[in-house]
Amino acid sequence: MTDTRRRRSAEDYYAGLPEFDVAPLWKDLGNLLTREPKVKAVPHLWRYEEIRPQLMEAGEVVTAEEAERRVLMLMNPGLQDRPAPTRAAATNMLYAGLQLVLPGEIAGPHRHTPAALRFIVEGSSAYTTVQGERTLMEFGDMVLTPNWAIHDHGNESDEPMIWLDGLDIPLVNSLEATFFEDFGDDPQELTKPIDASARTLAAGRLNPPEQREWNKLYSPVVNYPWKQTEQTLKNTAQDTKGTPTDGVIFEYTNPYTGGPVMPTMSCYIQLLAPGMHTEAHRHTSSAVYHVARGSGYSIIGGQKIEWEEKDTFALPGWAVHEHVNGSSSDEAILFSFTDEPVLRALGLYREAGRERQG
Ligand SMILES: [Fe+2]
Ligand SMILES: [Fe+2]
Repeated sequence: MTDTRRRRSAEDYYAGLPEFDVAPLWKDLGNLLTREPKVKAVPHLWRYEEIRPQLMEAGEVVTAEEAERRVLMLMNPGLQDRPAPTRAAATNMLYAGLQLVLPGEIAGPHRHTPAALRFIVEGSSAYTTVQGERTLMEFGDMVLTPNWAIHDHGNESDEPMIWLDGLDIPLVNSLEATFFEDFGDDPQELTKPIDASARTLAAGRLNPPEQREWNKLYSPVVNYPWKQTEQTLKNTAQDTKGTPTDGVIFEYTNPYTGGPVMPTMSCYIQLLAPGMHTEAHRHTSSAVYHVARGSGYSIIGGQKIEWEEKDTFALPGWAVHEHVNGSSSDEAILFSFTDEPVLRALGLYREAGRERQG
């Protein structure tokens, strides 16, 4: 059979392709296979001093129904052209928000496949119940509400409570694997003593026999209490300045595996000795940092982020970063959560040292 078609111009050829739902790879290669990650999230600081008044005002303007989710989401300016399900993001795959729970308010039991953690910023004695175990939360506590675990919370104290929420929503929405289920307004039944897991698993190396039956991908600990965390940091800081890139740093772990607290997010706490200036490095994982104690600055991708107590800032993936404790007398303590477990599980975690930027 002879080919009687006339050869079309390249322009006509390209213009005709979308009709067949195909596209030429050779035109797009540079966008698809980049030499290194093209990161759209930008380094960014959310100053508590500015956000807190906005959050408190939300306490006045939202209705009782909306109050269950009185959260100001931390929106990374580099990601605002994304579609809605992934736009609410502090870094590429991490969501962060500041939540206010006023005295007397409760949120009914529910569960969702995106995993969540909360780091307590202000207030004391509000509760979260996870799978029948209630915990009373204080400043600096780190509480897990993992994938599909039923949780509810309430504030029976007489002061407002504010915490930082960390979730893997952008990741789970990208994977189109989000499910949500509601169980009404009444708090869930308590089936375990208050703070049982924090007490039983406090040592981190003495585990009860139930560890053999634990088949979840997440840590059995509901609350990692600040008192223990801070004490461990301070005790260790007496002996060492820690690692060159992060100072004295600890990962919160699942005591049954020694691995990260949840399969999609890992949490860290680090102490920077007075005056410490860490070595610069970068990694493919991104992180959201929250300043638990002290003040200083970080240089992220060449940008100086000056932080104070209770500020939150975004470290985009592959951005070179170094941290500086601005005080010559006081320690600085940074909490962070990262998407590192996802990158590690998929063989995509990379780390590299760099020259300092400042
Ligand atoms: Fe929730
Ligand atoms: Fe780092």
